[in-house]
Amino acid sequence: MAAKDRILVLGATGSMGRHVVWASVKAGNPTYVLVRNTPGAKSNVRLVKAANPETKEELLQSFINSGVNIIEGDMNDHETLVNAIKQVHTVICTLGKQLIGDQVKIIEAIKEAGNVKRFFPSEFGLDVDRHEAVEPFREICEEKAKIRRMIEAEGIPYTYICCFAFTGYYLRNLWQLDTVVPPRNKVVIVGNGNVKGAFVTEADVGTFTIEAANDPRALNKAVHIRLPANYLTSDEIIPLWEKKIGKTLEKIYVPEEQVLKEIQKSSFPNNYLLALYHSQLIKGDAVYEIDPAKDIEASEFYPHVKYTTVDEYFNQFV
Ligand SMILES: NC(=O)c1ccc[n+]([C@@H]2O[C@H](COP(=O)([O-])OP(=O)(O)OC[C@H]3O[C@@H](n4cnc5c(N)ncnc54)[C@H](OP(=O)(O)O)[C@@H]3O)[C@@H](O)[C@H]2O)c1
Repeated sequence: MAAKDRILVLGATGSMGRHVVWASVKAGNPTYVLVRNTPGAKSNVRLVKAANPETKEELLQSFINSGVNIIEGDMNDHETLVNAIKQVHTVICTLGKQLIGDQVKIIEAIKEAGNVKRFFPSEFGLDVDRHEAVEPFREICEEKAKIRRMIEAEGIPYTYICCFAFTGYYLRNLWQLDTVVPPRNKVVIVGNGNVKGAFVTEADVGTFTIEAANDPRALNKAVHIRLPANYLTSDEIIPLWEKKIGKTLEKIYVPEEQVLKEIQKSSFPNNYLLALYHSQLIKGDAVYEIDPAKDIEASEFYPHVKYTTVDEYFNQFV
C-alpha cells in the first residue's frame, strides 16, 4: 500500500484542530503540528470551555502518545513555518476566527516551500461564497472568502471544508445563551423553527476533513458536510431531546427582527453566537444546491463514514 501523505495541522490545540489531528492519526497519515510554547489562549466562550476541559499540556501529551510530530514554534515566524511546511504534503489550518487574515503568511510560506499538494484554509463553517450572515459574523465570512480568492489567484491546490454547525456550538445547549447543557424546561427558538440547518460533531468534521485530504477527487473543491440524519430544523431537533428526557419543553419563538435587535444590543460572545444562529436557523445558509463543478457532498463521496447523529449526540446529556 502506498504511504499516506504527511499532514501538518496549524491550530492543532484549538477546539477544531485537535479533532483533525486525531482523525489524521487514526487514518494513518504521518501527522505534524506546529504549536507555540505558551500556556494556550483561553476561550471566552463558555461552550468551548465545557467541551474542552483538558489543559494544553495534557492535550500535547496525548498527541505525543499518539505519535504526532510536534514542531515548536509560532506561525508568525516565517522561517519556522516554511521549514514545517517543507516536511509535509498537506497543510490543514484550523486557526481561530481572530487569525483568518493572518493566513496570508501561510500562503506566502506555502509558495516559498513549493511542495504542498493541498491546503485547507481555516473555514469549517458555512460556505463563505453563499450566505446571508450579519455582523459580527459576516466580517469573518468575508475574510475567509478573501483568503479563498488569494489561494486561487496563487494557484495553490486547495480544499474548502463547509461543515456548518458544530454540535458543540449549537446543540450542546440547544442554542440557549444561558446554559452549557440542553434545557429541560423552556427553549428559546430563533426564527420560526422550520429552517433546515446542518449539524455535525467536531470529531466527524475531523474525519471528513482527512477523508478529503486523502481523496484526489476533493482537489480544488469545496466539501459540504450536510449529513442526512443531521440536516434538520429546530422543530425536528427539539422533539429528539424531549423524547430522551420524557418531557415537553415550553417553546418561545423569536422573530428575525427581534433576533437582529438582540444582536445589536449584546456584546461578544452572545452577539457572535446569535449571528451564527441567525445565519443557520433563520436565513437557511446551509440550504442550497451544490454545483458538481466545484462542490462535493461529503455524505455521497464518503458514505462509509459512520457519523454521530443528532439523536445519538444528545445521549451524553440525559
Ligand atoms: N462551524 C462552527 O460551528 C464553528 C464553531 C467554531 C469555530 N469554527 C471555525 O473553526 C475554525 C477553527 O476555530 P477554533 O474556534 O477551533 O479555533 P481556536 O480554538 O481559537 O484555536 C486557535 C488555534 O490557533 C493557535 N494559534 C493561535 N496563534 C498562533 C500562532 N501565532 N502560532 C501558532 N498557533 C497559533 C492556537 O494555539 P494556542 O493553543 O497556542 O493558543 C490554537 O491552537 C475557524 O475557522 C472558526 O471560524 C466553526
